[in-house]
Amino acid sequence: MCFTAVPDNQSQRLQLRKLIRQRRQQLSPERQQQAASNLVSQALALPALSSSQHIALYLANDSELDTFPLIQTLWQQGKQLYLPVLHPFAAGYLLFVRYDQDTLLYPNRFGIPEPLAQCHRLLPVDQLDIIFTPLVAFDLKGNRLGMGGGFYDRTLSQLPAKSRSKVIGLAHSCQQVDAVPTDSWDVPLRQIVTPEHCFTFRRGNSSE
Ligand SMILES: Nc1ncnc2c1ncn2[C@@H]1O[C@H](COP(=O)(O)OP(=O)(O)OP(=O)(O)O)[C@@H](O)[C@H]1O
Ligand SMILES: [Mg+2]
Repeated sequence: MCFTAVPDNQSQRLQLRKLIRQRRQQLSPERQQQAASNLVSQALALPALSSSQHIALYLANDSELDTFPLIQTLWQQGKQLYLPVLHPFAAGYLLFVRYDQDTLLYPNRFGIPEPLAQCHRLLPVDQLDIIFTPLVAFDLKGNRLGMGGGFYDRTLSQLPAKSRSKVIGLAHSCQQVDAVPTDSWDVPLRQIVTPEHCFTFRRGNSSE
């Protein structure tokens, strides 16, 4: 008798991470630059943005969609921006720290630049109006696969069920897949913005 091994959920997630990370690493610097510039117009068109004052973003790593042109635009609009910082005491959690034009950044243990986690510069996650997250893969149900650390999942699980904070994923279009294999702890996204589209999710459906 011949058995074909069916990969379990964790193996599927590992394979998908590898495939999609390779895919986005192949984007040329020109494509990356164009994508970052297009992201500005897509994000500015989000209805939620004009009424939002406290906004968390991330600094691109591993060929993620570059947010820096968006960050500069939001600074010009007077928005208060925050970056994720590895929690110094609660392993696996993130803190969100104010990020201004003159904020000094230091590489964390993954080599990602982050501000110092000074108490007076922190904002609790439920007081952020928008949390823009990086991701590795997404599908059109708003499912999100991250880099595998569970940092965003743990941190976003602290949001109350009817939180006003909007969790919005940012990604290149090539990171879209048919279906992300999910686990019970994965926090789904309310919206996903790519350089070309904005997808909004309601009860498992998406609309552009
Ligand atoms: N709310 C949580 N409480 C405890 N452990 C969690 C929680 N969320 C995720 N984890 C753990 O984190 C690990 C990684 O989770 P997962 O593979 O979903 O990461 P990811 O979504 O790719 O990463 P990230 O959230 O940083 O983008 C899993 O082993 C999972 O058990
Ligand atoms: Mg997850």
